[in-house]
Amino acid sequence: MALRPIISLPDSRLRLVSKPVTTFDHEMLALFDDMLETMYEAPGIGLAAIQLGIDKRMVTLDLAKRDDSPPQPLFLVNPEIVWSSPELSTYEEGCLSIPDFYEDVERPARVRVRWQDRQGAVQEMEADGLLATALQHEIDHINGVLFIDHISRLKRERVIRKFAKAARREGGREPDAR
Ligand code: NI
Repeated sequence: MALRPIISLPDSRLRLVSKPVTTFDHEMLALFDDMLETMYEAPGIGLAAIQLGIDKRMVTLDLAKRDDSPPQPLFLVNPEIVWSSPELSTYEEGCLSIPDFYEDVERPARVRVRWQDRQGAVQEMEADGLLATALQHEIDHINGVLFIDHISRLKRERVIRKFAKAARREGGREPDAR
């Protein structure tokens, strides 16, 4: 296992649509190990492979609080939302790729998610509460969508500008320049 750097705004790779995983091999397992370790270290409750700059449809999640309950990691390959409830709920969201920025986001309160596990077997579950929000947040990532896309345009543009400015100050160049 190894920690890997998490990419952040304004890195344009965060906008890539990740590719389906078709090979369930040792390399994929090793990447999952690195994702989990990096997520725990951050610390965060969810991480998509693209946040490590890797455009594969892979997500790790663990909602267990690190200190007071044993880890309960979830490893999702090619996850998709197959149903979402008409009722909505609001959670304050944050993102390891948008450090120190939090905002309320309204999303479907319950979702049914289908994915493949690390062996390639198809799994399905229905989730509510924080898990429903976290699943939607991470599945957004593999489709190039960020939680700031669900907030007001004014707030979104403000945070994007702030991160772009910080990147210019740090590197003297735009990480997302093409
Ligand atoms: Ni995120």
